[in-house]
Amino acid sequence: PEDLQPGPEPTLHTQEAYAPEDDFTAKWTRADARQLKRLSDPAAPSRENSMPAALTMPTVPQDFPDMSNGEVWVWDTWPLTDEAGNQYSVNGQEIIFSLVADRSLGFDDRHVFAKIGYFFRPAGVPADERPENGGWTYGGLVFDEGVTGQIFEDQSYSHQTQWSGSARIMKGGEIKLFFTDVAFYRDAAGNNIKPYDPRIALSVGHVHANKNGVKFTGFDKVTSLLEADGTYYQTGEQNEFFNFRDPFTFEDPNHPGETYMVFEGNSAMPRESAQCTEEDLGYREGDPYAESVDAVNASGATYQIGNIGLAKAKNDDLTEWEFLPPILSANCVTDQTERPQFVFQDGKAYLFTISHRGTFANGIDGPEGVYGFVGDGIRSDFQPLNGGSGLALGNPTNLNFAGGQPFAPDYNQHPGHFQAYSHYVMPGGLVQSFIDTIGTHDDFVRGGTLAPTVKIDLDGADSAVDYTYGNGGLGGWADIPANLDVNSGGKV
Ligand code: FRU
Repeated sequence: PEDLQPGPEPTLHTQEAYAPEDDFTAKWTRADARQLKRLSDPAAPSRENSMPAALTMPTVPQDFPDMSNGEVWVWDTWPLTDEAGNQYSVNGQEIIFSLVADRSLGFDDRHVFAKIGYFFRPAGVPADERPENGGWTYGGLVFDEGVTGQIFEDQSYSHQTQWSGSARIMKGGEIKLFFTDVAFYRDAAGNNIKPYDPRIALSVGHVHANKNGVKFTGFDKVTSLLEADGTYYQTGEQNEFFNFRDPFTFEDPNHPGETYMVFEGNSAMPRESAQCTEEDLGYREGDPYAESVDAVNASGATYQIGNIGLAKAKNDDLTEWEFLPPILSANCVTDQTERPQFVFQDGKAYLFTISHRGTFANGIDGPEGVYGFVGDGIRSDFQPLNGGSGLALGNPTNLNFAGGQPFAPDYNQHPGHFQAYSHYVMPGGLVQSFIDTIGTHDDFVRGGTLAPTVKIDLDGADSAVDYTYGNGGLGGWADIPANLDVNSGGKV
């Protein structure tokens, strides 16, 4: 668009597909990510959104209803899906899995106490005919106490927690729950005695659903699938603050019969000696806005080296996996490429991932939200959506001002700066997320429940918020509708 602010040109990306096994990693470059600032209006005044409306989630009102009726904090949430990302109801019940924590905890203390809970509600009811809070019934925790701690050789953990993942419905009502099983080893002051230990893990159960509700059996054993290897994916020895989590499995339409997984990782460099390259910066020849590699490496940007990993299942039970090289790196761009997922549409592979404003590297800025990349296959020279910026759906944000923190928003920030996070793109472009903080510095409330569902339309390498959806673009609260109903589950 002609109203872009001055800045570097984005990197040229071909979208060309490579074999999943190939050693090609697409780069979300600094030249790409600097398009975020070029999209931002430098004249936007205090507390107003500086980003284009087409890429901004409509403002969520502060008087939101609570989906758990006061039972638990709720954040990252995922539906019951098949290999193509379709969302299923079972015997007329929609089912979702959420990270939950006790409401006696402060919302920011939740991460080391997270457990996977589930909710259900009757399928096939239009959002505007449901109770305002989405009409879910909280079913409780998925795992009995002690089950998810068993995989850790070192049982001296201080905290043992369950982080995000994804759930696959298989034949006969079997559910394969992929998640991140985490042990922390901290002293009483909260410092690491040794690095935390996040593992990508699987537990198998069965769903029992009828008009009275939903119960699970199984989920009494956990299989550890993957630990960061230090070659492709950074380990705790390389960086005690490493990220390795959030498995999402799928079948690649170009390789039917094979199951793959994407997950959040970091590039496998030691924290203190990490270096970014000319390719990570990605400037075009002669770009007057280019930075030098030395200047970027001296800036502290090397602490932010997120990547998106790929693994391939070695057996039909999906209990054995092998790492493949990462499909995307964000070296010197952002440290967190969380909850990655694929959406296949119009013959293209769309890769989505969430990132925080505060995890961007020095010299890069962009809103909290979901970022998208498009290519011809699951390993491609991915083109970041929307002019190379990657932004698909961000919170209303003013990039002219600091963000503050969810517990202390900056005085000049838009009330929506932290309104939603952990966006998950569903069939039909629907996007669900959870509420973090809504309001301004002097008047804000914490969330802990799901936001209104919104809709984005994908069109090649562009996307736009659909403001005709719901009420000015905001659909039902906590609305995660199944698009397929089955009796026996999975492929029938
Ligand atoms: C995203 C996230 C995930 C992680 C979970 C931990 O909100 O950071 O990456 O699995 O939350 O609470």
